[in-house]
Amino acid sequence: MKRFFIMLIVVLLPALSLADGTLSLDRVALDLQDKAAMQDGLRTFVNYCMGCHGARYQRYERVAADLGIPEAILLKSVVFTGARVGDHMESSMQSADAKAWFGSGAPDLTLVARVRGSDWLYTYLRGFYEDSTRPYGVNNTVFPNVGMPHVLAPLQGRQVLTCAPAGNDGACERLAVIPGTGRLSQSDYDEMVRNLVTFLAYSADPSRLESRRIGTYVLLFLLVFFVFAYLLKREYWRDIR
Ligand code: HEC
Repeated sequence: MKRFFIMLIVVLLPALSLADGTLSLDRVALDLQDKAAMQDGLRTFVNYCMGCHGARYQRYERVAADLGIPEAILLKSVVFTGARVGDHMESSMQSADAKAWFGSGAPDLTLVARVRGSDWLYTYLRGFYEDSTRPYGVNNTVFPNVGMPHVLAPLQGRQVLTCAPAGNDGACERLAVIPGTGRLSQSDYDEMVRNLVTFLAYSADPSRLESRRIGTYVLLFLLVFFVFAYLLKREYWRDIR
């Protein structure tokens, strides 16, 4: 019995340490086969993020091919920096300028979905709230004292952190958007952010789409190969038995 309890503690320990002190992230379910969602995410990315962030390990051409965007539309609606289709998706902002303006460089976002995880990104982009003590007037629930302004505020609206009623140890943890201050409804905003995160998740692992396709062929091949291997085995063993 004693051993059982020790085992139980060992098994539960990691869960306990996780539960303690980590932030609760909003979960997001992504569909990496959904090209329309990724195209929408790409549009948001070039319009609202690329002024400061790049995705420099990614080429326009590759993105267009993966997401099924014809080249004419790519050049008209996606490439705003005068880049050519074969170019990397670089931001036009110099990192020295970013340091001066925001206190830190705007990191490249090609791989951010792998580093932070999609739940974190989804929570982060919906987690800006007004804080007059910060240079840009906003803070973030998962990135305290963030150096990035809330560039999606015109869409989301002004979000504030409301405090729990007294007696509930005064914790300030509920986010609320002031109605009528943003162009999108809350669910449309969430949808837009989810599409953006879907694009970033694709961007962090572009070969995943292809690996799935190849994986299916490999499994089919193994299935067919198994039949022949089995027949061959029967043929060999017939004489030995
Ligand atoms: C006006 C410039 C600017 C724009 C536009 C901008 N960002 Fe940022 N972003 C920053 C800066 C600066 C930081 C670094 C903040 C820090 O380290 O405090 C940052 C940080 C981030 C981070 C955290 C990266 C990390 O792992 O530390 C993410 C994610 C991010 N931005 C996503 C976005 C997305 C998505 C958009 C478009 C919707 C966007 N940003 C638009 C300036 C910008």
